[in-house]
Amino acid sequence: MNKQKFALQTALVALAVAGVSVPATADAPGAGGTQALGPETGEQVYRQICQACHMADGKGASGAGTFPALAENPRLASPVYPIIVVTRGKGGMPWFSNALSPAKVAAVITYVRTHFGNHFTTPVTEADVKKFGSPAPVIDH
Ligand code: HEC
Repeated sequence: MNKQKFALQTALVALAVAGVSVPATADAPGAGGTQALGPETGEQVYRQICQACHMADGKGASGAGTFPALAENPRLASPVYPIIVVTRGKGGMPWFSNALSPAKVAAVITYVRTHFGNHFTTPVTEADVKKFGSPAPVIDH
């Protein structure tokens, strides 16, 4: 092993050891915290999850699949229907009852019902989602 390589390797080992011995600073701002990074508000949930299929403007898309518009969608008039779709999934739409808490499901549905040309202003609550939603299906393997 030549000198340079040896020096590099030693430095890397030193770094690794230093890394292990430095106490983890839990939940400190910046990279490496232990707090889950996730969407919080209805808008964030929409941007991070729903928009991939329903598009940024809520108008849906068709191409490789058909993603219905949520914009100006009269089916959102009752909160029950979107709660069922989001917690149970439907056709090509996956369910989100395992990925999103009832509070987040409520927040994103409230967001969708009050944006994209929808004016259903009564907020959907966590209690609504618990009442009408369904828990994540159990998949037996
Ligand atoms: C992987 C793609 C995908 C994602 C992500 C997704 N959806 Fe969907 N969504 C669909 C598809 C496909 C349908 C149509 C299902 C059917 O009718 O067969 C649908 C249908 C719906 C419907 C019913 C619309 C109607 O007119 O019947 C609502 C409401 C809905 N989605 C809301 C959401 C919300 C809110 C999110 C984010 C939490 C979301 N979707 C995320 C693909 C997706």
